[in-house]
Amino acid sequence: MALLVIGGDGKIGSKLIEVYEKSHISVLKTTWKKELVTDGSFYLNLEDDVENWILPSFKIDVVFFCAGKTSIDYCENEPLKSRKINVVNTIKLIKRFCDSGAFVIYISSNAVFNGETPFSDLNEEFDPKTEYGRQKVEVESFLLGMCENVAIARFGKILSVNIPLFNDWIIKLRNAVPINVFSDMNMSPVSLDYAIDILIKISQKKIKGIYHCSAIHDISYSAVAYFISSKLCLDANLINCISYKDVGIKFSPRYTTLNSSKLQEFQSIPPSPFDAINQYLIFNDES
Ligand SMILES: NC(=O)c1ccc[n+]([C@@H]2O[C@H](COP(=O)([O-])OP(=O)(O)OC[C@H]3O[C@@H](n4cnc5c(N)ncnc54)[C@H](OP(=O)(O)O)[C@@H]3O)[C@@H](O)[C@H]2O)c1
Repeated sequence: MALLVIGGDGKIGSKLIEVYEKSHISVLKTTWKKELVTDGSFYLNLEDDVENWILPSFKIDVVFFCAGKTSIDYCENEPLKSRKINVVNTIKLIKRFCDSGAFVIYISSNAVFNGETPFSDLNEEFDPKTEYGRQKVEVESFLLGMCENVAIARFGKILSVNIPLFNDWIIKLRNAVPINVFSDMNMSPVSLDYAIDILIKISQKKIKGIYHCSAIHDISYSAVAYFISSKLCLDANLINCISYKDVGIKFSPRYTTLNSSKLQEFQSIPPSPFDAINQYLIFNDES
């Protein structure tokens, strides 16, 4: 079975490749960094005209679509540039892969919803509040209407074991420097390992449709900071709770959880949000 990761250098794409390679399964990838093109990887820049992009000459069975502009701020500030990458060329390329008979897994987000209620259902109405979310909705709407061989995997937050924000908090707290954390910005994170496991299971079943994957409840960024400070015996008095509005951020959803009950099909139980934080602490040998 030939597997292709579009965006093989990103957080999710590179981890997918690492996990497959550990099981001695080879995976092809695309990169938009010319210097990283090697055997088994193809140059693909989603800013270019992807209609002329030469598809691999052999049959690809599964495509994991992991490339794009993922910064909410970048999408907000550069709506046209980001839309060309995240919507226009993403749709064109996925359509080409679907037409070639590949099964495509597109990674989407809770940002397609307004975040006013917890545990958004699979068929909840779209109501994005950010440009990033609107772009996800555009792609999803196209895929749901036009492509047969597509799974859409919506995630809340996916936490790797390298999280610059948490690293920064820990360094500051250790040096008795106060930190400002949002008490009204929430996440329902799953670990990158958990997310990869779900994506691989979707690829094995190749069942089209929408999948949801989030932790079982939301936690605020301040709750995460208090959790980390308690685990590492750091001074919690240095944690200042502020609002995201204090720093000019216009929107943050009250709820980010997704109704993930469909994951039972894979014998997967949605995790506690603290599992992903614990995994970060253990990996960094901080607990
Ligand atoms: N991580 C999460 O918490 C999360 C949650 C829900 C959904 N998702 C979705 O999952 C997908 C993968 O996310 P991720 O966390 O792996 O993000 P990521 O680390 O930013 O990966 C995206 C990759 O696309 C690359 N890219 C940027 N512009 C490109 C272009 N013009 N042409 C080709 N590639 C380009 C990026 O390169 P540079 O790094 O050089 O920019 C990066 O390698 C995205 O669609 C994201 O929206 C992620």
